[in-house]
Amino acid sequence: MKAKEILKTMKPYKPGKGIEEVKEEYGLDRIVKLASNENPFGFSPEVQKELPALIEKLEIYPDGYSAAIRKKVAQFINVNEDQLIFGNGSDEVVQIVCRTFLEPGTNTVMATPTFPQYRHNALIEGAEVREVPLVDGHHDLDEMLNQVDEHTRVLWICTPNNPTGVHIDHDHLQSVVERCPEHVLIVIDEAYYEYLEAEDAFDSLAGLKEHSNLMVLRTFSKAYGLAGLRIGYGVAHPDIIQVLEPAREPFNTSTVAQAAAIIALDDQAFIQKSVEENRKNKKKLMKFCDDNGISYYDSQANFILVHLPISGDAMFEHLLTKGFIVRSGEALGLPNTIRLTIGKEEDMERIQEEMKQRIASGVS
Ligand SMILES: Cc1ncc(COP(=O)(O)O)c(C=O)c1O
Repeated sequence: MKAKEILKTMKPYKPGKGIEEVKEEYGLDRIVKLASNENPFGFSPEVQKELPALIEKLEIYPDGYSAAIRKKVAQFINVNEDQLIFGNGSDEVVQIVCRTFLEPGTNTVMATPTFPQYRHNALIEGAEVREVPLVDGHHDLDEMLNQVDEHTRVLWICTPNNPTGVHIDHDHLQSVVERCPEHVLIVIDEAYYEYLEAEDAFDSLAGLKEHSNLMVLRTFSKAYGLAGLRIGYGVAHPDIIQVLEPAREPFNTSTVAQAAAIIALDDQAFIQKSVEENRKNKKKLMKFCDDNGISYYDSQANFILVHLPISGDAMFEHLLTKGFIVRSGEALGLPNTIRLTIGKEEDMERIQEEMKQRIASGVS
C-alpha cells in the first residue's frame, strides 16, 4: 500500500492532556482545563434545557443543507443564506477550503505560529506552504503579500491570532484586502470574534460586500461553548460557496449541533456574560503579569500568551501537578511561554498564585 508521501512526515494533531488523564496521573479530584480556549462557563442554559428533546430521532440523517441554522445565522449576521457553508467545527471548513483550492503546484500563505490546521490541511493537499513569521505577535502582512504569486490560492489571516491573541486593525487588514490579487482567496478566521473588544477591528462582513475573494470563518466552539458538538461556518460570496459545497461531506453537521446552535444564538445574554467575565479576568491576569514582571501579548481573545523567566514546559508540568492544564509554548516554537485560556475568577486567582510560586522557586 502506498499513502501520500507527505503523510509520512506528518503527525496527527496532538490535543492537550485530557481531564480524566490528569486526574488519574496526579491523583487529583478537580482539574481546570485552560488549554483549548473553551468557555469556562459552559454553554447556554437554554441549550441545556432543550437537549433531551434534541436527542430524539437519532435514526434519521441530519439536514445536509442545514436549512434551519442557515436561516438563523443569515439573519443574525445579515447575509444571504447562499453565502454560508457549515462545517463539523470551523476546522472542517478549513479542510474544505484546502480540498477545494489546493493541489500540487499551488501555494498558500500564512503566518507562523498561527492556527496549525491551515498548514496541516494544505500539506495533505500537496500545496507548498509559505509561512511568514509573526513580528511581535502580529502578522507581518507586507511580507505575507510579498509571498503571494500567481500560484497562490489561499491567504490565511487569523484575527485574533491563535496563539498570540493579538488582532489586526481595520487599516492594516483593509490594506491587505485591497492589495491582495483577486485570484487569491483571503480567509479571515474569526474563531474568537465574540471576545474582540478593540474598536479599530476590521469589519469583515462589511468587507465581504466589497471584495468577492474574502471568506470569514466563525465557530460555535469558543464563546458559544459548543466545542463538543462541532459546528462552525464560513461566510463568502455565493460563487465561492458553490465551488466549496461539493468538497463538503453530505451530512457533516449533526442534527443536535444544528439545533443547539440555533438556541445558542438566541441566548445572547449568555454570550455577553461570558465575554464580560473574560474581560474582567483577563484584565486581572494582565495586572498580575505586570506586577510580577511577566510580559504578554495584548490579547483580544479568551486566552493569553505569557512570557516566563522559566521554560514553558517547566511551568506546564508544575501547573499539571496542581490541577491546571495549560499549553506550553515550547511545542509552538515559542520558548519560555505558556498559552492559557482565561478561566473563572477563583481558578484564575489560584493559577496566578501557582505561577508566582513556581517562578519564585527558580530555574526551570
Ligand atoms: C483560530 C482557530 N480557528 C479555528 C479553530 C477551530 O475551531 P472549531 O473547529 O472547534 O470550530 C480554532 C480552535 O482552536 C482556532 O483557534
